[in-house]
Amino acid sequence: MSYKNILFEIKNHVGLITVNRPDKLNALNGETINELEDVFSSIKNNPEVFVVVITGSGEKAFVAGADIAELNKLDVLSAKEFSEKGNRVYRMIETLDKPVIAAVNGFALGGGCELALACHIRIASDNAKFGQPEVNLGIIPGYGGTQRLARVVNSARALEMILTGDMVSAEEAYRIGLVNKVYPQSELLNSTFDLANKIISKGQQAIRLALKAVKATDNMSLVEGLNYEASLFALVCGTEDFKEGTVAFLEKRKPQFKNR
Ligand code: COA
Repeated sequence: MSYKNILFEIKNHVGLITVNRPDKLNALNGETINELEDVFSSIKNNPEVFVVVITGSGEKAFVAGADIAELNKLDVLSAKEFSEKGNRVYRMIETLDKPVIAAVNGFALGGGCELALACHIRIASDNAKFGQPEVNLGIIPGYGGTQRLARVVNSARALEMILTGDMVSAEEAYRIGLVNKVYPQSELLNSTFDLANKIISKGQQAIRLALKAVKATDNMSLVEGLNYEASLFALVCGTEDFKEGTVAFLEKRKPQFKNR
């Protein structure tokens, strides 16, 4: 599939997705959501991609939300489909077995904030602004904001953002745990790639199982999660990378992981 609204390239095992509608501040229209669905399905089956980075085109916005011109046409039936579709695509991102890092380079509003929330790690530029401004439009978040925001920051913070529609700065987002790190805008992509490359330098079997185990906390009790961790721990101890990692330590050399 060739894309109209996103760019996709693979650079040394990093799949870089850029939402590319800068004249509309990268707002997500239906076509862009379809393209994201397609690119994430292809990434899932592409052994070349170890880590995904998603960002927005230009210096102003990551994604300024769902496309309000399309939102405006929704009725009760089509709104349900709209929300379910977005949730399905964002859930694909959240459950991808490869780390997905949001490089938030400006406004991350509504569906844009929700997109960042569906990613596993969020890195922001110093000009980034986060918000769930749906109430300003007479609606509520429809791509998971009411659920994920309260899980990432605390419920009172999430409610403050959702009920007021106010934006928070990158600095404030860092303070409340909404983003992992903040960099000057000129350094955002390089710093995000440094992080991606650090993850890529590890054994990928361990990376994927660690991701799977941590994401399991979404729907498991502590006891179920501990049992699940034990089974994944056993699995990873059957890999060549486990032997290599431990032998390399004992031989005081760097491991050469083969991702097997
Ligand atoms: N959907 C559709 N178009 C959008 C958009 C969105 N979510 N966000 C921005 N755009 C468009 C604007 O309509 C404008 O298009 P135009 O040049 O054809 O008129 C263009 O992007 C630039 O936006 P503009 O509003 O002129 O930039 P700004 O710097 O003055 O303001 C924002 C930036 C982000 C504060 C403002 O665009 C905004 O509030 N956007 C909507 C955010 C929102 O409510 N998102 C949640 C949707 S559920």
